[in-house]
Amino acid sequence: MPEDASRIEELRSQVNEHLYRYHVLDDPIISDAQFDALIAELRRIEGENPELVTPDSPTQRVGAPVGDLFAPVRHLRPLFSLDNADSSDMLLAWEHRMERQLGRPPAGYVSELKIDGLAVVLTYRDGVLATGATRGDGVTGEDVTANLRTIKSVPLRLLGEDHPAVLEVRGEVYMPEKAFEELNRRQAEAGDRIFANPRNAAAGSVRQKDPTITASRNLAIWVYQLGLVEGGPAFETHADTMQYLRDAGFRTNPASERLGTIDEVLDYVERAEKGRHETGYQTDGVVIKADSLADQDSLGFTSKAPRWAIAYKFPPEEQVTLLKAIQINIGRTGAATPFAVLEPVFVGGATVGLATLHNADQVALKDVRVGDQVIVRRAGDVIPEVVGPVVAARKGRLKKWTMPALCPFCGNPIVRVEGEAVARCTGGFECPSRVREWLFHFCSRGGMDIEHMGYKTIDLLLSEGLVTDPADIFTFDVNELRGREGWGEISVNNLSRAIEAAKDRPVARLLTALGIRHVGGTIARTLVRHFGGLPALMAASEEEIAQVEGIGPKIARGVAEWAADSVNRDLVANLGKAGVRLEDEVEAGVAGDLLAGATFVVSGTVEGFTREEAQAAIEQRGGKATGSVSSKTTALVVGDSPGASKSRKAEELGVPIIDGDTFRELLEKGLSALPG
Ligand code: IVH
Repeated sequence: MPEDASRIEELRSQVNEHLYRYHVLDDPIISDAQFDALIAELRRIEGENPELVTPDSPTQRVGAPVGDLFAPVRHLRPLFSLDNADSSDMLLAWEHRMERQLGRPPAGYVSELKIDGLAVVLTYRDGVLATGATRGDGVTGEDVTANLRTIKSVPLRLLGEDHPAVLEVRGEVYMPEKAFEELNRRQAEAGDRIFANPRNAAAGSVRQKDPTITASRNLAIWVYQLGLVEGGPAFETHADTMQYLRDAGFRTNPASERLGTIDEVLDYVERAEKGRHETGYQTDGVVIKADSLADQDSLGFTSKAPRWAIAYKFPPEEQVTLLKAIQINIGRTGAATPFAVLEPVFVGGATVGLATLHNADQVALKDVRVGDQVIVRRAGDVIPEVVGPVVAARKGRLKKWTMPALCPFCGNPIVRVEGEAVARCTGGFECPSRVREWLFHFCSRGGMDIEHMGYKTIDLLLSEGLVTDPADIFTFDVNELRGREGWGEISVNNLSRAIEAAKDRPVARLLTALGIRHVGGTIARTLVRHFGGLPALMAASEEEIAQVEGIGPKIARGVAEWAADSVNRDLVANLGKAGVRLEDEVEAGVAGDLLAGATFVVSGTVEGFTREEAQAAIEQRGGKATGSVSSKTTALVVGDSPGASKSRKAEELGVPIIDGDTFRELLEKGLSALPG
C-alpha cells in the first residue's frame, strides 16, 4: 500500500512531465505507446486504491456531466476590453497619448498575436487548478471548470514548489485549424451541425454539459495575462510575468516579442499580418502592451479599457451580407455545385459577389436559405465561401433550398446516386456548361497548358460554334478570330503558336487533360510508361490495366469504362488526326531498373527538361517521381528557381540536393552518381 502511494506519485509526476512536454512545449521525448503504458499503469493502481485518487491527478481530466446551468463565478479582478486600432496612425496616436501622460514614451512594449478564440480565466489555489471560467461580462463569468480541465495544455497543478496562495491567469482557448476541419468532417459525416469558424467551435465546445464532448474537441490554450496574485513573487514587467507563467507550466505564445520602440511594433504588426495564415490557428490582430508594470500603473484605465494596451485589428476576413440567390454550376464531370449570389461585400481585400457552397449536403448542414444574412469568408488565397447563416437575423419564414430537378443549362434531369455527395447533370455533352468546363480543364495548366485559352476565349469559341470538343481546338481556323474585340494580329498569332506547341506535350499530360475519373498526373505517367501511349492503353482490357503496378481496381475500371465509350474513342482518333502526340518515344538503350526503388522530387526547371520530362526520365528508369520531400526521398533535384520550402525540408531531413549536372549523370549511371 505505501508502495502504491509512492508509485502513484512517481507516475503522476512522469505523466505530467510528458503531457507538459507534448502539449505545452511541443517537444515530446517518448512515444505515444510509452506514454499510454504509463497512464494505463497509473489508472490501474488508482483503480485498486480509490482513496488515493486526487482531483489534480492526470487521470481526472474528464469528469462527470455538470448540471443544467453553469454556475456564475465572480472574477477576482475584472477583465477589461481593449481599445482598437486599425492603422499605423492610430498606433502612433496611442503612443502619443501615453507619452503625454508619462512625460516620455513607455519603456518598451510587448507585441502578441490576438488569438481568435474564447477568453477564459483560470484560478489556482496553492498550485492546484480551482476554477476555470468564461469571460462573461468581465465581472462575472460562467463556471466551466470541468470542461477546461479536459484541455491538456491547461495545467491541473503548477510546476515547481512554493506556489502563490492565489494565482489568476487569463488566456484564450482556441481550436487549431486542423482540429476544426477534422471536427466539421466528423459532424458532416454524422449529419450534425457544421461550425462556421474555429472560434464558434471553440466556444460551443467549452459550453458543453458533458466534459467528454469537450475532451474530444482538441482544444488548446494560449495564456496571455496575469490577473490577481496573492502570496507570490513581485514582477517588474509584463515579459517577466509571462516568463513566470511559462516556468509554471502554462502555454505561452512563441510569437510574442519584447520590442523597444513603436517603429519596431509597426514592423511586428506588418510581419504578423503577412504570416497570419501560416500559424495553424486563427488570429484577428495584434495586442500591444506597455511592458513596464510601473508604466501600466501610472497609465491606469479608462472606464472600459487599459490605457497601456491596444488591439490592432487585421482587416476582417469574414463579413455578413445578404444571400440573394442560390444557383448551380455544372462541372466537367457533370457535378452540380451550388453557389451563392450575394449582395457584394468587401472582405479579405476584395469585393465578393459569388461564393461557393460546395454541395447540396453542405447547404443543408449549414442551413443557409435565400434571404438570409450570411457570413462570407475570404482568407488568403482561399476561394470565397459562405460559412453559415446569421440565424438570429432571420426574419419570417425562408424556404430551405433544394437541388433543382432539371439542369438549368440543358434541361436534362439532375440525379444523385445513393451514397454519393454530388448530384450530376445527366445531359452528357448536350450540356453546354459541362462542355465549357471540359474544354477549360483540357486547356488548363494541369492539362495541356495552352496559354490564352481561358474562359473568355473558350466562351467566344463556343458561342461562334468554332469548337465543340477538345479535338476542334487543334483544327479550327484561328484566323476567324481576327478583327474581333481584343483579337488583333498579335493575339491571334500568340494563340496559334500556343496551340501548335500543345500538340507535342508528353502523352501523360494529354491523358490528364482528358479528365478521366481518378486519373491525375502521377497515375497518367504510370499508365503511359507502361503502355507507351493512348492507342495501347485504349486497346487494353480492365484486367490488363489493373495489373500495372500502382494502379488499383477503381482506377482500372474508370479507365476501361472511359476507353470503351465511343465518344472518347472518336475524340482520341480526332486528336491524333489533328497532329496531337498520342505516343511517347521511348529512349533507346535505357535500363528500366537503373533507378529502381529510388524516389525523387523535381523542383524548378532543370536545363534541357520540362518538369514532366525530368519526371518521365526518372520513371523510365524505374524510379519514382513525387511532389513533396519526405524522409523517403532519395534526392531533391533542383533546377532554376526551385521552391524554397522544398530545399528547406530536404536540408532538415538530410535529403541530398542535386543540380542539373548531377541529375544528367544520375540518368546515365544510376544511383552511384549521388553524393556521399
Ligand atoms: S490582453 C488588459 N492579449 O482579445 C488586457 N487579449 O479585448 C486584456 N485576446 O476578448 C486582454 N489575444 O480574450 C490580450 N494576446 C492577447 C489576446 C487577447 C486575444 C482577446 C481577449 C479579449 C480581447 C481583448
